[in-house]
Amino acid sequence: MKIHTIILAAGAGSRMKSNKAKVLQTIGGMSMLQRVLRTTANLHSKSTVVLGHDKDGVLKHLQNIEGDVSTVIQTNQLGTADAVKSAMSHTSKDETVLVLYGDVPLVSEDSLRELIKKSKDGFSILTTSLDNPFGYGRVVTNADNIAQAIVEEKDATADIKLIKEIFTGILCINQELLEAGLQEVTNDNAAQEFYLTDLVKIISAKGINIIPVTANNDEVRGANSKSELEALESILRNMNAQDLLDKGITLADKSRTDVRGSVDAGNDCSIDINVILEGNIKLGNGVSIGANNYLKDVVIGDNTTIEPFSHLCNAKVGSQCSIGPYARLREGSVIEDGAKVGNFVETKKTTLGKGAKANHFTYLGDAEVGENTNIGAGTITCNYDGTNKHQTTIGSDSFIGTNSSLVAPVEIGNNAYVGAGSVITKDVPDNALAVGRGKQVIKEDWSKDKK
Ligand code: UD1
Ligand code: CA
Repeated sequence: MKIHTIILAAGAGSRMKSNKAKVLQTIGGMSMLQRVLRTTANLHSKSTVVLGHDKDGVLKHLQNIEGDVSTVIQTNQLGTADAVKSAMSHTSKDETVLVLYGDVPLVSEDSLRELIKKSKDGFSILTTSLDNPFGYGRVVTNADNIAQAIVEEKDATADIKLIKEIFTGILCINQELLEAGLQEVTNDNAAQEFYLTDLVKIISAKGINIIPVTANNDEVRGANSKSELEALESILRNMNAQDLLDKGITLADKSRTDVRGSVDAGNDCSIDINVILEGNIKLGNGVSIGANNYLKDVVIGDNTTIEPFSHLCNAKVGSQCSIGPYARLREGSVIEDGAKVGNFVETKKTTLGKGAKANHFTYLGDAEVGENTNIGAGTITCNYDGTNKHQTTIGSDSFIGTNSSLVAPVEIGNNAYVGAGSVITKDVPDNALAVGRGKQVIKEDWSKDKK
């Protein structure tokens, strides 16, 4: 079945009190629209986004999103049927059309697959039951649970208003059926809008069985205000944290774990409170992540500990390592097995060899550090000359004394020593000691004369 998704995103969203289109508001670090498009990409669907308010902002945003996505402009927001109509020229007869809302970002792939499956007779609608259905279109069904009509709040009689099953806005329909049905939709209703929901009555009258598919409340929630956006954020956080628990990860507090990407983990990993996981995270077995850590696109090996308050981004950490507290691993950091990165240490495009240590107050940028080398407190690789970045290479089993400046490009050999407080501007050979600092002078009784 060829699926074509039409995503409605023309609305103003004035209750967001924002200068940007509603669908560009983010949850879990990703715009609502991008989330919807990610789901449709998983369905291998072509997508057409209907734009209206802040179309330029949305178009610009879409440039950074991959996939088979086209756009149409709905000039006047005359209603949901008009919005879908404006996208019909992008669809073709052999397709099944899936209508989604750009501001309903959490709808699951599973529900959509079920909806698509149930549309095999031509038409299915996604519904849910609400204790307080006020404001939503009510689904009228017959005794066989086949939908007969959707009645909007404004047009509902007291009896209809008692119905708790509501239309989520999401439906799936054969393209030709949709094309024909749209011709019959009028704006003869309380809102004087062209309701897409009128299709149910129109198409049901043609003898087609319209199947309601039930979704859970959470996944079909939309966001019209910052409060509702925050509610979605919390639903998403809960869903993602549940996913970590299902994968066997121990969480200190589900409500204080933020997953904004995908997490892959071995057994016996644990995550303390206030941890943010973004992008693609891969954890081995027995990884322990302390409180208040931020991790984005990182791979961490077995039995490694990330102590609290660390920031890791685009980094690869081996097994049996200890990182932090207060460490910052930036892009291109590779920390090999058994290495240690301590407090207030920053690494960038740097490899720290097996068993090497940088325990305190250090910057390692564009550097290669060999196995079991010790980097003393306060060591800085001076990698930048104001124009270009340069490389520092340090061999294995070496010792860099406290408060040394290694002026790159520079090479320090194996089993080499650098005296504390040195400024190293020349290469240091294997097994050598380099001292590059002012000689200490003693002036006996110097202060006595001062008083
Ligand atoms: C719609 C449904 C209602 C359903 C509810 C679920 C209709 C007539 N009613 O009502 O049955 O319970 O959604 O949330 O469809 N949009 C456009 N162009 C337009 C009008 C709307 O792109 O001309 C977009 C909006 O940006 C929004 C979506 O369509 O994303 C829904 O429109 P909205 O006006 O919010 O519909 P509701 O009245 O909530
Ligand atoms: Ca709405």
